[in-house]
Amino acid sequence: MQYSAKVMDHFTNPRNVGEIEGASGVGTVGNAKCGDIMRIYLNIDDNNIIRDVKFKTFGCGAAVATSSMATELIKGKSINEALKLTNKSVMEALDGLPPIKVHCSLLAEEAVHAALWDYAEKKGIKIEGLKPPVSDIDEHEHGHDHDNDIPMI
Ligand code: FES
Repeated sequence: MQYSAKVMDHFTNPRNVGEIEGASGVGTVGNAKCGDIMRIYLNIDDNNIIRDVKFKTFGCGAAVATSSMATELIKGKSINEALKLTNKSVMEALDGLPPIKVHCSLLAEEAVHAALWDYAEKKGIKIEGLKPPVSDIDEHEHGHDHDNDIPMI
């Protein structure tokens, strides 16, 4: 499998790894098929700007690289700009992913959206265009069967 130099760079030297104590929003998503998990922490200021972002990913190399790139792409951006982050934009920024690894990049998009959703819930606000997280792994603890939640691409 051929990875781009950028993927290798973000995999071997991931940016913004860690957690944020008392973060404004935290999003945790998982892929039920491979079992990989990604968590993103956001610190958002009163002007809706993402001042800091950190991530923890228990997953494959592509998942680590896409989380790293996703954090770089949304750092210092507004909520609305972060909302526009898609797995495609993350993949483009990484100069592509092998086709069987495309689903890994979905986790990055979903984790950012889940963290924004958490922020909105904590603040009691509604973020226009933001949908509830599709793969909130916390729900697994309540006995739901989420096996079919995440389409594998
Ligand atoms: Fe699971 Fe990549 S194989 S996220």
